[in-house]
Amino acid sequence: MLIDWGLLLTPIFVIIIGLISVHLLLPYLYYRYMGRVARRPWNVAIDPKYEPKVTMIIPTYNESDVIVKKLQNVKGIDYPSEKLEIVIVDSCSTDNTADIAKNYLKDNGYPFKIKIIEEEERSGKAKALNFALKNAEGQVIATSDADSYWESSALKKATSYLADPQVGALTGREEFLNLNQNVLTLAEGMYRNVYNKLRIGESKIHSTQIFQGELSLYKREAFEKFNDEKGSDDCGTVKNIIAKGYRTIFVPEAVFSDTAPYTWKGRIGLKERRALHLIHALVGAAKLKRKKRFPQPASILYTNCFIHLINPFLLFAFLAGAVYLIYMFPLLLLLSLPLFLLKKSRVLIVSYLTSNFALIWSTLKYIRGEEQIVWKKIDEMRRVQA
Ligand code: GDD
Ligand code: MN
Repeated sequence: MLIDWGLLLTPIFVIIIGLISVHLLLPYLYYRYMGRVARRPWNVAIDPKYEPKVTMIIPTYNESDVIVKKLQNVKGIDYPSEKLEIVIVDSCSTDNTADIAKNYLKDNGYPFKIKIIEEEERSGKAKALNFALKNAEGQVIATSDADSYWESSALKKATSYLADPQVGALTGREEFLNLNQNVLTLAEGMYRNVYNKLRIGESKIHSTQIFQGELSLYKREAFEKFNDEKGSDDCGTVKNIIAKGYRTIFVPEAVFSDTAPYTWKGRIGLKERRALHLIHALVGAAKLKRKKRFPQPASILYTNCFIHLINPFLLFAFLAGAVYLIYMFPLLLLLSLPLFLLKKSRVLIVSYLTSNFALIWSTLKYIRGEEQIVWKKIDEMRRVQA
């Protein structure tokens, strides 16, 4: 094969190689660094005897498939019964969710207080959480989704981290009920493993902004209400709590399970919504940082802004570079075939491409001023569980 060195050294090629290096190296170095930090001991005071009064809010909209399973799951929560209260807040479900839940509760005794409240109209999850918050008695507010299930010890493990007055909120670790279903669910598992390492590292330094509403705990004193404007109820609220001077951390022992989307449509839909929420929260945080009102270290905040807002666009340089190289050296296509045949690398490719494209699309939506306060649920995620 004849190599045209002159062409190889054209400035365009050099620029593309430069962009690809930034695109792959920066996230990799951040991951390696956070992986090392994640192994450090915690610098928060953990007290397993600390058991504050908790109100757990479960918002529901058309959850008839899973609501009974959820009610059975919360019954098993291991926590002093006089210190736990559960509020289910339904927003005019059209599938009888509230009635199914009421009937189930009538027939089944619970060791703690549990009630159902209903909104008169549907205005989205965050507004429903705030509606429930009005009468919540807990010193700590926990949130959980109808289609996610907590390990019985999760609450106790989580509250012990709230003993430290610095900690204003925390989130738990997700496990998938259908991890091995197909390449898409495995891709979500791989993505989560990477993010979990980043979130432990960030938490041990100061805080992570990446929260999951399926298992989050917030000290009542640390926030007035859930963020119900731009950004999500989880990451958006966390941004405000960090701005108030608290730390917000990821606790890997507090485990919940749910279902990973297993179709392309489901996966892209979920990732795109969550990415849009996160982008709103990150940009909001960067604005606060400029006003010196955001104590999370700049290195964490700006690296996250770069990774989620700018780096995905460098994927195009990566694709252009790959096409160029294959054009120059067609043999490379043959050499790269095993990448598509081996399961692990296929999962990596799917995880990498879907995450980056979801971020690109969400960033464009953000620029167009779009937001998703009320969303259409990803039905398939309930179908597996029911
Ligand atoms: N009351 C009420 N009103 N509940 C709602 C509404 C609403 O308008 N919309 C959604 N919910 C409930 C659902 O019934 C479910 O219990 C929970 O809110 C989460 O909704 P899902 O549709 O299951 O969301 P997801 O799993 O795809 O979303 C993930 O990302 C969200 C942010 O984009 C989770 O991490 C959520 O916790 C997170 O808020
Ligand atoms: Mn869900």
